[in-house]
Amino acid sequence: MTAYSPQQTAAISLVSPMLPFRAEILSVQPEAPLVSTYWMRFLDPELRTSYQFKPGQFNMLSIPGMGEAAISISSDSNDHQRVGHTVRFVGNVTNAISRLKAGDVIGVRGPFGTSWPLEDHHGKDIFIAAGGIGLPPLRPILYQVMAQRNNFGRVVVIYGARTPDDLQFTREYKAWEEAGIELIITVDRGDEKWTGLVGVVPLMFYRLRMDPRKSVVYTCGPEIMIRFVIFEALARRITPDQIYVSMERNMRCGLGLCGHCQLGPYFVCKDGPVFTYEQLQPYFNVEDL
Ligand SMILES: Cc1cc2nc3c(=O)[nH]c(=O)nc-3n(C[C@H](O)[C@H](O)[C@H](O)COP(=O)(O)OP(=O)(O)OC[C@H]3O[C@@H](n4cnc5c(N)ncnc54)[C@H](O)[C@@H]3O)c2cc1C
Ligand code: FES
Repeated sequence: MTAYSPQQTAAISLVSPMLPFRAEILSVQPEAPLVSTYWMRFLDPELRTSYQFKPGQFNMLSIPGMGEAAISISSDSNDHQRVGHTVRFVGNVTNAISRLKAGDVIGVRGPFGTSWPLEDHHGKDIFIAAGGIGLPPLRPILYQVMAQRNNFGRVVVIYGARTPDDLQFTREYKAWEEAGIELIITVDRGDEKWTGLVGVVPLMFYRLRMDPRKSVVYTCGPEIMIRFVIFEALARRITPDQIYVSMERNMRCGLGLCGHCQLGPYFVCKDGPVFTYEQLQPYFNVEDL
């Protein structure tokens, strides 16, 4: 592959944002049944150093002949050696990704979309509520918090999965806790070995003490979970502009051109995926938006 200078790379992205860059898969880390993290690096060495993303943004991953899927970046934005995407195998493209192994090449277009505004929330208590495949877009935040823990008040992660086997990133929980992140892990259904919490994420959220004057909420996961987390946050008098939600819609272009991802007046690819509830409120409870 041609090696482009950072300036050329930026120019190519501007001219042809529909063209994917090629990245080599370095390793595949199984996380849960039908979920794996793909660690990759761009073939172009200059792109490796010039590529930057913010926590919450996503890439379009592509496989020739199969198509593209929007996948959040789940790795540390300060790690310029590799980029991680955590994929749940649900359909055409993601099932094709499930067949890739180390050494294979994948197309990457991005990064796209808005990010979690962590830098605006220094001094605040951060409450993160995630369900299932909603944790990967939030994991980059945890790397940032660990790197600058003193900039924040309490950092609480409530993470729920269907069963203990479905919990992702389990090998990292100890490091998160050692860095001063409060972890509340819950499952919908335990098994014979499970001694932890059982119950849905909004229920665990309901049990928390929080000071609405200095708290912000970041949430991502199934839409039903998001709705109840918002309900509980509002009940604690956290204002809609302090509740941040990452939304999923079908993606095609990722550039605000095709209209596939429309949500009310917004394009999720360009105006989101991270929105405040203040932005979404008028459209959130409307069917088929
Ligand atoms: C901003 C954004 C970030 C995303 N981040 C991630 C991520 O980090 N990891 C990840 O695995 N996925 C993520 N997704 C979801 C992913 O883009 C979709 O699941 C995508 O449709 C998968 O493509 P596919 O071709 O494999 O499946 P498709 O062929 O498009 O879909 C196959 C079947 O799966 C169903 N389906 C599609 N999407 C979902 C879904 N989200 N949940 C349940 N069923 C679904 C469809 O209804 C269809 O029946 C994200 C989506 C958005 C918009
Ligand atoms: S995916 Fe085309 S407008 Fe958003």
